[in-house]
Amino acid sequence: MRYFVSGVAALLLAGCVQSPGDGAPRSGKAVYLENCAACHGPTGAGDGPAADGLAQSPSNLRLIAERAGGSFPADDVLAKIHGYTGPGHFGDMPEFGSEMDGAKVIWTTAEGDRIPTAAGLVRLVRYLESLQEAG
Ligand code: HEC
Repeated sequence: MRYFVSGVAALLLAGCVQSPGDGAPRSGKAVYLENCAACHGPTGAGDGPAADGLAQSPSNLRLIAERAGGSFPADDVLAKIHGYTGPGHFGDMPEFGSEMDGAKVIWTTAEGDRIPTAAGLVRLVRYLESLQEAG
């Protein structure tokens, strides 16, 4: 719950810098259901209909914080979804950075760097954060 609350606060702040005229923003949940649920499942548990055909099982996205030792690694999650290359990028998991162009908001990393990031991607990460189950 703590993470969810901070996520909402960040989202509200982020909303302030969104440029006008980019159309109605889609919720993180809508972005998730459209792009991710086929593999990761409707609730993020990793049991989507497309999961069977993959060599690797899609991760249970409700347990990201638990796997990371208790706190949600928002910067890592954002980077993975975006598809910034680097060590640890997956095989079967597609990258979505280029599909989430549009209004940019400021993403402030844990280290304080401020990175203009697609609003839909930020909302998606906050939505995933809200799904985390207590470990
Ligand atoms: C084609 C199937 C597929 C789609 C679509 C897909 N993923 Fe994945 N995803 C995977 C697979 C497979 C893995 C596990 C790969 C690995 O761990 O090396 C994964 C891993 C991840 C991880 C890493 C979890 C962890 O704990 O390290 C995140 C976060 C993630 N996906 C988020 C998303 C999001 C958000 C979307 C939608 C924008 C999405 N995925 C769409 C297949 C998919």
